[in-house]
Amino acid sequence: MKTVFQSPVEPGFVQDPYPFYDKARAYGDLVYWEDYNKIAAVSHRAVQVLLKDRRFGREVPAELQRSGPAHLAPWLNVEAHSLLEAEPPRHTRLRALVTRAFTSRAISALEPTIRDLSHNLIDNFPDTPFDLLDAFCTQVPVITICRLLGVPEEMSPDLLRWSHAMVAMYQASRTRETEDIAATAARDFTAFLSDYIEQRRTDPQDDLITRLIAAEEDGEKLSHDELVATCILLLNAGHEATVHSLGNGVKTLLQLGLDPRAHAIDGLVEEILRYDPPLHMFTRYAYQEVELFGHTFKRGDEVALLLGAANRDPSVWAEPNRFDATRPIVTNTSFGGGLHFCVGAPLARLEMRIALTALFDRCPNLRLTAQPEYSNTYHFHGLTRLMVQV
Ligand code: HEM
Repeated sequence: MKTVFQSPVEPGFVQDPYPFYDKARAYGDLVYWEDYNKIAAVSHRAVQVLLKDRRFGREVPAELQRSGPAHLAPWLNVEAHSLLEAEPPRHTRLRALVTRAFTSRAISALEPTIRDLSHNLIDNFPDTPFDLLDAFCTQVPVITICRLLGVPEEMSPDLLRWSHAMVAMYQASRTRETEDIAATAARDFTAFLSDYIEQRRTDPQDDLITRLIAAEEDGEKLSHDELVATCILLLNAGHEATVHSLGNGVKTLLQLGLDPRAHAIDGLVEEILRYDPPLHMFTRYAYQEVELFGHTFKRGDEVALLLGAANRDPSVWAEPNRFDATRPIVTNTSFGGGLHFCVGAPLARLEMRIALTALFDRCPNLRLTAQPEYSNTYHFHGLTRLMVQV
């Protein structure tokens, strides 16, 4: 297997990781990424196979589990009870409790709310240059997930702060300071939710938190720690990636001078998600010896699945480095696949369809006023800001 070298914090790579992916993919389905000390799957077929192969999973194999440093305890406790980090049977139990809230019918019912929200935000755009990421791309997903879960929208600044601090733990640029800030955020987020859950026990509403509280009170389906971790996961995952899918998409459209109104919105959203996804890497552990793509994985081996590389595989998409909203839709890997396939995919797609339609209908002359830059936060791939004028 070919070894590849690429620092994930090198500025050129952070701004445009795709040439590296193309180079790596030309070597085969799997490469050894020296800087991560991991095998990486770079072709579409390898990423798809590994996402779906049940001999691989996210949960750390028992013999590799470590208790972790004391200073990280609040963050580790949330992780330990998160469905994203679990495999069956724990994963099946936790996921079943949230999937009902994300059925296509339940999500379609949110359509008018998301539309009103998008238009209200646009009503408040200034005439002078402003950051669209902050004023629009962030607000639509964060307010929507607050409403779906049943958490006060006024909490959104705190939720954003806690969420950014907690997900920074997955970034290549992580330091001891990142860890301390993440631990404090996890502690404060947990404390807020514990109080809020107590308050909501006697105030049932038609929202997800009411259903999760009922499952916890039932005793067998959800522990208190799992209830808190599930709310945190939904609040964090419910906006981080959607914010940057919107940001990356608007940036691409404005830079290429494309009028999104000229295209069918479903194809446009899929192409945005394929072309420049917000999350580029997820990892899996092998649970037994497995031979795949000419390599023998041993139990405990970790493999990185490069979603951003899979989405530009020329054996699946012709001229993959070209943005083309008229392509036939082929399932991209941006929402993952298999057991951990994104619970929020239908919601994220709906938010993107509605928000982009409203934005370009209402602001047909939208233009960039500064060159957008990506944050140095690999494996997250999102902009620092998106300065525009209406
Ligand atoms: C465009 C936006 C989004 C993208 C690109 C995205 C991407 C992903 C990916 C790639 C995974 C799988 C990770 C893995 O396999 O290791 C995932 C899982 C997940 N996502 Fe999303 N997501 C988005 C929006 C959302 C939203 C809006 C929500 C919630 C409302 C959400 C909730 C979740 C949850 C709960 C999981 C864990 C599922 C499990 O482990 O079974 N995501 N997402």
